[in-house]
Amino acid sequence: MQSQFETLLVELDGPVAVVTINRPKALNALNQKVLEELLALGNSLRTSPAVRAVVLTGAGEKAFVAGADIAAMAAMQPAEALGFAELGHRVMDGLESLPQPVIAAVNGFALGGGLELAMACDILLASESARFGQPEVSIGVMPGFGGSQRLPRRVSFGAAAEILLSGDSFPAAEALRLGLVNRVLPLADLLPEAKKLAHKIASRAPVAVQKTKQALHASRQGPLSEGNATERQLFSDLFATADQKEGMTAFLQKRPPTYTGQ
Ligand code: CAA
Repeated sequence: MQSQFETLLVELDGPVAVVTINRPKALNALNQKVLEELLALGNSLRTSPAVRAVVLTGAGEKAFVAGADIAAMAAMQPAEALGFAELGHRVMDGLESLPQPVIAAVNGFALGGGLELAMACDILLASESARFGQPEVSIGVMPGFGGSQRLPRRVSFGAAAEILLSGDSFPAAEALRLGLVNRVLPLADLLPEAKKLAHKIASRAPVAVQKTKQALHASRQGPLSEGNATERQLFSDLFATADQKEGMTAFLQKRPPTYTGQ
C-alpha cells in the first residue's frame, strides 16, 4: 500500500490503516494536494486486502478538517470550481466505496468539506471538542463535496435543512442527538476507541464485512426491492467462501474462527 504522502500520514497497525490529514496550520483544510493524495490513497487501499479497516482523523487537537481550502477557492471562476468539486466528489465517492469500512475519528472542527469527508466514512465517532457544520452559505457558496446530499441521508430532512441553510455550527452533543455520530468521547479516548472498533471489524470474516458494507450502501441508493435483491445475491456469494465454512464450523465446534479472507 502507498504510504508516503506530503499531506497525509499513514500508519499501519496490523490490519488497520490510520490515516491522518496533516495540515494542522490550516486546520487540515482540503486543498488540491490533499484531495489528490486522498484519491491516490483510496486507489491504493482498494487493492490492499491486508488492510481490513481504516480510521481517518485530523492532525493536531483543534480540527478534523475545517473545510475545503478557502484561500485556494477565493479566486476561482465557475469552470475551475466545477473541476474542484468534481475532484472532491471523486474523493468522497472513492472513500465511500472502499471495500474496507472507514471510521471517522472527528477530533475537532468538521466544517464544510470536513463534514462532507466525515460523512463519506461509514461510522463517525467524535471527541467532546468536535464541532460540526456546513457554513458555506455564510461565505457565499454552498456545499460542493456532497454535503447537500449526504447530510439529509444521515439526519432528518428538517435537521439537514436547518444546518445547510443557516450555516450555523453545532457541538458534538448535538451531533449525537441528531444521530450524525455514534459516540462522543474525551479527546484522549477518541483514537484508541476508533482503533479498537476498527480492530474488532478487522477480526470478522473479511469478505462478509465487505459485502455487508456493500449491502448497507445499496440501502441508500434504490428501492427496497432492489436493495433486498442485492442482499440475497451477496448473502449467497458468501457461501462460496472458505471463511463461511470456517465461521460456521468453528461455531459448531465451539472454537474461535481463523479467517483467511478467502
Ligand atoms: N481554508 C483555508 N484555511 C483555513 C480554513 C479553511 N477552510 N479554516 C481555517 N483555516 C486557517 C485560517 O485561515 C488560519 O490561518 P492563518 O493562521 O494563516 O491565519 C488557521 O487555519 C487557523 O484558523 P483560525 O485562526 O481561523 O482559527 P480559529 O480558532 O479562530 O477559528 C474556525 C477556527 C472557526 C474553524 C475558523 O478557522 C473557520 O471558520 N474556518 C473556516 C470554516 C469554513 O467556512 N469551512 C467551509 C469552507 S467552504 C467548503 O468547504 C466548500 C465545500 O463544501 C467544498
